[in-house]
Amino acid sequence: MKCSMCNRPAITFIRRVKKYFCEEHFLQFVLKQVRRYLEKHGIRRKKILIAVSGGKDSMVMLHTLKMLSEDFKLDITPFYINLGITGYSDPCESVVREVSEELELTPIIISLREYAGYTIDDAARIERKKPCSTCGTVKRYITNRIAYEGGYDYVATGHTMIDEFAFALHNLYSGSIDTFLRSYEITDTRKDLKLVGRIKPLYYLLESETLTYAIVNKIKYCNLECPYAQGHPTQVHKEIGLMGEYRLQGYVQRILSSLNKLKKMIPERPDNNIRFCKICGYPTVTDICKYCRLKAKFSRE
Ligand code: AMP
Ligand code: FES
Ligand code: ZN
Ligand code: ZN
Repeated sequence: MKCSMCNRPAITFIRRVKKYFCEEHFLQFVLKQVRRYLEKHGIRRKKILIAVSGGKDSMVMLHTLKMLSEDFKLDITPFYINLGITGYSDPCESVVREVSEELELTPIIISLREYAGYTIDDAARIERKKPCSTCGTVKRYITNRIAYEGGYDYVATGHTMIDEFAFALHNLYSGSIDTFLRSYEITDTRKDLKLVGRIKPLYYLLESETLTYAIVNKIKYCNLECPYAQGHPTQVHKEIGLMGEYRLQGYVQRILSSLNKLKKMIPERPDNNIRFCKICGYPTVTDICKYCRLKAKFSRE
């Protein structure tokens, strides 16, 4: 097959746009999607903390933002939290260090053991359950705090369109309507609340596309899956999205776009319950934030 834009041989077909792409035009296509996101949200001349897990999507995000950093005048720093998950965290940290060096970027690397005094393995052992929710809390808290203290305008995460789809479906499935309504393409910075905004530069891309981009650009990434992630229901919702995408053109994008329209019809409810944690001073809805409660709990064990 030939590329739909030129006469060179195609390396991939993207069903949702019904086009064949050669290597060069495929790379242009991916960068165009990231560009589209940055332009839509006016992300120019910003200082961005790029949260990376070492996995394919976040390393592709790092690469694309580096490619576009001059055009958009972005000041970017890779950021990795070593969560202390045996057989997973250390190899991913090595990849983050290696890729950052190749891209001539200096990463900020935090060890959860040093920062909070425990690891996610400790949390799993003490709580005798999957630590994913604890892990989500500490990742969100530490990332926001480091970004706030460092004066960053945004934190960028490597969520793709399929992650957003799976997250929305998972919240609907589990009845978490508030969480469903509060998930946006972008969240703005609220300095008064010590909250740094979040951007998702891969929002207009599917994982199959980030995978092809990683292969074509020979981007190193950590091919390991978190040992605690297996069997999480979000995986099922991802599979539904992938199946839909395979059978119906633009399935994921169409559903997400309709859900976003639906969200806009529901007036935003001000979160009057937000106050500042009595221990750390960061925002919370209880007297002591969840991060500080977890820290106290695990340091007692
Ligand atoms: P996950 O929750 O593992 O699907 O990861 C979602 C996003 O969170 C990734 O794309 C990264 O942007 C960020 N992230 C995940 N793990 C880490 C980590 N260990 N350190 C920093 N950011 C992370
Ligand atoms: Fe946090 Fe798996 S990455 S529990
Ligand atoms: Zn071409
Ligand atoms: Zn606190």
